[in-house]
Amino acid sequence: MADKDDVKEGKEFYVDVPAKNEPFYLKGSGSLDWGMQNRLARIFNPKSGRTVMLAFDHGYFQGPTTGLERIDVNIRPLAEHADVLMCTRGALRTSIPASNTKAIVLRCSAGQSILTELSNEAINVEIEDAIRLNACAMAAQVYIGAEYEHKSIMNVSKLIDTGLRYGIPTLAVTGVGAEMKRDMRYFLLATRIAAEIGAHYVKSYYFEPGFENVVAACPVPIVIAGGKKLPELEALEMAYNACQAGAAGVDMGRNIFQSDCPTGMIQAVNAVVHENETPKQAIKIYEHVKNEIAKN
Ligand code: R5P
Repeated sequence: MADKDDVKEGKEFYVDVPAKNEPFYLKGSGSLDWGMQNRLARIFNPKSGRTVMLAFDHGYFQGPTTGLERIDVNIRPLAEHADVLMCTRGALRTSIPASNTKAIVLRCSAGQSILTELSNEAINVEIEDAIRLNACAMAAQVYIGAEYEHKSIMNVSKLIDTGLRYGIPTLAVTGVGAEMKRDMRYFLLATRIAAEIGAHYVKSYYFEPGFENVVAACPVPIVIAGGKKLPELEALEMAYNACQAGAAGVDMGRNIFQSDCPTGMIQAVNAVVHENETPKQAIKIYEHVKNEIAKN
């Protein structure tokens, strides 16, 4: 313990070593405060600049989704291979042990169900609870072009404002209504609006052609949602193509937890996102893990 009896004067000041002033590595995040950048650094791996977010927040509007019947059973074994767990506070408190050290991105909106209008949601988590849960970011949808577009934009704006007070970033999720075209024109509009209202990163769907234009026009990182379940190789190709076009990773749910080998699939996605592994190489990881599990 330091005491006053043996105070030694500093001798080595490294006067020839200039202090480093390193730019923060994440797109559009250079002017954020330390706490905000630190939380983003827990989401986006500083080496690759990308993230594998495991999304299992689907229950907030669609109940016990296939593959999420038991989050404690289905998701816990996958957590070690993800950078981030994206979930509701109910799932987190009941089914994820607090010994988890992976970053949490907290679903902070609710108010609708698959039986009603999806865009009619509101913020349902106060900032105090996001802090209590040690969230690295808060998330809600912007429903551009939908019936409750205005409300959803103001929901995300509220998260951004409250999060800024405490250094917690906001993820804007571009929610797409059933009747909306998932094309470049739509996502240029939706992702840019999300960034301009102040979201710290944005979730988009992947599409072709023109996804790279959407990434270029969005001044903050874009991660892609997985969308409906695809054959494993196709899902890996989607993640690969998105990253090669500039996406900063994935926020993937069904293509992982609905796979016949979720543990193999998340490791394959990890290799694509962080190691630039090609889909043909990465599918071997999935197959290998699947075979090993089958042997035991
Ligand atoms: C949807 O409302 C949620 O935000 C999901 O987390 C998101 O759609 C990603 O999940 P999936 O890969 O299953 O589309």
